[in-house]
Amino acid sequence: VRVGELPTPALVVDLARFDANVALMGERWPGESLRTHVKAFKSTTLARRVAAAGHPSFCGATVRELNGMAAAGLGHDLLLANEVVDPARLQVLAGLDARVTVAVDSDATIDAAAAAGIDEVLIDVNVGLPRCGCPPADAGRLADRARAAGLTVRGTMGYEGHVTVIDDRDEREAATSDAMRRLAEAHEAVGGDVLSGGSTLSWDLNHVVTELQAGSFTLMDTEFAGRGSPFRPAMAVLGTVVSVNADARHAVVDVGLKSLGMDHGNPTIEAGKVWLCSDEHTTYRETPLPRVGDRRLVWPAHIDPTVALHERMHVVAGPLQTDEGTVDLDADVVEVWPVDLRNW
Ligand SMILES: Cc1ncc(COP(=O)(O)O)c(C=O)c1O
Repeated sequence: VRVGELPTPALVVDLARFDANVALMGERWPGESLRTHVKAFKSTTLARRVAAAGHPSFCGATVRELNGMAAAGLGHDLLLANEVVDPARLQVLAGLDARVTVAVDSDATIDAAAAAGIDEVLIDVNVGLPRCGCPPADAGRLADRARAAGLTVRGTMGYEGHVTVIDDRDEREAATSDAMRRLAEAHEAVGGDVLSGGSTLSWDLNHVVTELQAGSFTLMDTEFAGRGSPFRPAMAVLGTVVSVNADARHAVVDVGLKSLGMDHGNPTIEAGKVWLCSDEHTTYRETPLPRVGDRRLVWPAHIDPTVALHERMHVVAGPLQTDEGTVDLDADVVEVWPVDLRNW
């Protein structure tokens, strides 16, 4: 199948860019020091390619992601970087044929993990992002409680997601250092070998963690690329121009918010200027106007929720565009990567 024959909307991936993104990340975070976050791409086939590049450790945000990774034989070292209190789900995790570590940040999550037969945990520390994680000063007490309950405490994790909204690199570096001071302080009291944290935008600013949790760098998006990141967008939603309004001078592609993660704003169509997105359409201006039936690449502002709306990614060797900047309709789809880790 060629790109020009795909039914739209469809996810298309530039394999060369993807591989380059993984290789670049691997220079700074080699081997197991990279704990790739599968939430960004939700695909065991993609994860297998990351593992083959030398990075066998992964984290996930959902039990479904860990189950799927273990079933695919990618259970070398899996971290559920999220809190779970559901005993049935924790028991499933405990029974996986995989090394599973679970994040805990409260008495309740520790007790639930111990009761379910989980072996290993990380104390999740709040380093400034208004989300999960215990206060740094409580981390030592929680570690003691976990050890008393028979759990092995591998160390700490702290995700500095709040720094990723900072445009200015110096300010982002200062905020990352501040967050990591909190993680290091907690780690003193917790002990263990692992300090897990980080993100695609602090990959070269975080000097404290022993392993980097990052996922967006694989496929990237326009939001993160716009903050000066060297990782390049490698996935777009392929669309077809389904209507052209010559009077109003706008065109419409069949890629709407039901095929795009929109929480980081409008997508980008390089040939024009995006005006608005509705359920099944993106209206944009392009001069001269395209023709009905033309194809366009719609680059999402946020990769994770975009992937989660689709069943598969269509992979081309790359690039997705011709030298003239149009979609390479003759490019062969060389692989199809099922998005098999969706849902919870
Ligand atoms: C717990 C956790 N760690 C790390 C990340 C980093 O991911 P990204 O590559 O998108 O910066 C995320 C993303 O939201 C996360 O939730």
